Amino acid sequence: MEIQIFEVGPRDGFQNICDYIPVETKLKIIDKLVDAGIQHMQITSFVSPKAIPQMRDAKEIVEICLKKYPTLDLFALVPNLRGAQMAYETGLKKVTNVISLSESHNRANINRSREQSLEELERILHTYPQLEVCVDIATVFGCPFEGDLGIVALLDFLQNLYEKGIRLFNLCDTIGVAHPKQVREIIKKVLEIYPDCTFQIHIHDTRNMGMVNTLAAIECGITEVQSTLGGLGGCPFAPGASGNTATEDLVYMLEKMGYETNINFQKLLDLSKWQTTIIQGNYSGHHIHIK
Ligand code: COA
Ligand code: ZN
Repeated sequence: MEIQIFEVGPRDGFQNICDYIPVETKLKIIDKLVDAGIQHMQITSFVSPKAIPQMRDAKEIVEICLKKYPTLDLFALVPNLRGAQMAYETGLKKVTNVISLSESHNRANINRSREQSLEELERILHTYPQLEVCVDIATVFGCPFEGDLGIVALLDFLQNLYEKGIRLFNLCDTIGVAHPKQVREIIKKVLEIYPDCTFQIHIHDTRNMGMVNTLAAIECGITEVQSTLGGLGGCPFAPGASGNTATEDLVYMLEKMGYETNINFQKLLDLSKWQTTIIQGNYSGHHIHIK
């Protein structure tokens, strides 16, 4: 069985690094990720440069990547209509619009109420009907300010988004507090209620639970999972958020278990090790070579 890996390091990983990473370095990592077999990649975000200065080169990154890799599934995170406009005008066909399940994290992250973000999503859908829009739902498994919001709140929120026409969702454990029992409960429920939708999962690795939680989701029927090279990552607006699930560890586990990822583990591991030498950051991967 095939599992599609969505590499989000060039966005979720890089956004947390204070020192500016030059465009050439970002592109080199993206090139090597493609060379290792990555087919789906979130390459940047179109956000306010005041909120995340690291992403100020989004337009350049997208222009170059689209030219080099016209057939890959490349996308960017956008927090508002302005971001969607920039993504669209730069040539992207797909964006992820992030909205939090919790009101307080949405305000911390996007400086808007959830209601305002939902209205902004409607504007994006209305203005750019040609764009494929995935909604990243942040804090699904717990919020740094409000704790666990519970499955009922999630289902209400999903229904609202479904009625707006969204069929692609990414359920995010923004601060890495999920556990497998909770993941199973949520995934079984959403797949049962929305068989016509695609759900991805995005799990941070705060308590070393990234792999077990991602595997729990896969064993409940999820086939698209997000991760970052080296486990680099974290949300700058969520206290306590740590690294992501490491792509190379995930690929290793899945391939050993007989799933197909179509990604070269050794190339990914070499790249991950190399990345740690050029970018100082919050890594959850182990980068260990064993013969
Ligand atoms: N891309 C680039 N610039 C943007 C922008 C975007 N998508 N959206 C707004 N801006 C600019 C505005 O033009 C304005 O610039 P100016 O001060 O030079 O006039 C400035 O940013 C502030 O705009 P405003 O609409 O008042 O936004 P805000 O200050 O309320 O911030 C967001 C709202 C959503 C733009 C900001 O919180 C943000 O970018 N958040 C992203 C958070 C993130 O990436 N989190 C991690 C990923 S989950
Ligand atoms: Zn994340």
